[in-house]
Amino acid sequence: MIPTPFYLIDEARLLTNMRKVEALRAASGAKALLALKCFATWSAFDIMRPYMDGTTSSSLYELRLGREKFGKETHAYSVAWSDREIDEACSYADKIIFNTVGQLTRFEGPSAGIQRGVRLNPRFSTSGFDLADPARPFSRLGEWDVTKLLGVADLITGVMIHYNCENRDFALFDEQLGRIEREFAPLLEKLDWVSLGGGIHFTGEGYPLEELAKRLKTFSDRFGVQVYLEPGEASITQSTSLEVTVLDLLDNGKNLAIVDSSIEAHMLDLLIYRESAKLPQTGDHAYQICGKSCLAGDIFGEARFEQPLNVGDRISVADAAGYTMVKKNWFNGVNMPSIAIKRETGEIELIRQFGYEDYLTSLS
Ligand SMILES: Cc1ncc(COP(=O)(O)O)c(C=O)c1O
Repeated sequence: MIPTPFYLIDEARLLTNMRKVEALRAASGAKALLALKCFATWSAFDIMRPYMDGTTSSSLYELRLGREKFGKETHAYSVAWSDREIDEACSYADKIIFNTVGQLTRFEGPSAGIQRGVRLNPRFSTSGFDLADPARPFSRLGEWDVTKLLGVADLITGVMIHYNCENRDFALFDEQLGRIEREFAPLLEKLDWVSLGGGIHFTGEGYPLEELAKRLKTFSDRFGVQVYLEPGEASITQSTSLEVTVLDLLDNGKNLAIVDSSIEAHMLDLLIYRESAKLPQTGDHAYQICGKSCLAGDIFGEARFEQPLNVGDRISVADAAGYTMVKKNWFNGVNMPSIAIKRETGEIELIRQFGYEDYLTSLS
């Protein structure tokens, strides 16, 4: 048995998402690039590659990883490229997307050999959380002045617009794409491609995939553009768990179970976005599942079990692929979860373990 903690990627579940990505690409003509910021566990890329068109990135290192480990079409985006990075970035990228017109003109020379785009900020989004809202007041994420963008239209072939955030609502997507069509038509008409970013939850249960495909195709036909999507969460949703073991139990007015992992170190977004982990919820025995770091609020969430918990019991935290492994850290020196893949045959393959040497070399 693999020692906990470990992230367990379920190949069959990942393939369920991949087949939806493939169906959407086929029906809409849109291309799908994996957003590495969400999931960059490259041992799973062999599973994903046949169903996706490539990757998109948020930094030089993600870009290089995408080029070297995924291949296919590689988009480079960064909130700001530095002088030291730009030549190397252009050497890996098929397209480079600048966050501002300032960066585009600054790096016009080094990027002349590849296709270029700028990030367009439509000034609305589906995010309800200020921290993650690209359309928040004074947002630095992209340009919103169409006249300014039209002034550099001959330097670019496309734009990237990321404004959806776990959007499960097709009607809302449809309405907001309509706004983009109305407000940015003069620019869109000049372009060869438009990336609509990530955040569309099209692999979720019951999502009207065919309607989305039709809508994307209408958009693409109207402006004569190749549409790109940058699914992060949608690519890997529900595919992975974090397997942990109960180390201790105590009752401080509530049954508490301390496990051999930590949200701060291994599922950081739960902490950032004040969310609960997806834990078992059936049975009469209620526990709060707590992490083992020193942070008082290191709590996975409330769970229920059929039987009372014992030290040594294993617990599976569901839906643990997105924005987890890419954010894990060595806070408190808590042992980093291994990475394992459950193959379609049912066999579990341990891909990578981390140890003291990894902790040591992450510092000096
Ligand atoms: C530019 C861009 N593309 C794609 C994504 C991926 O989003 P998601 O994981 O919600 O699909 C993000 C997420 O922040 C993003 O900023």
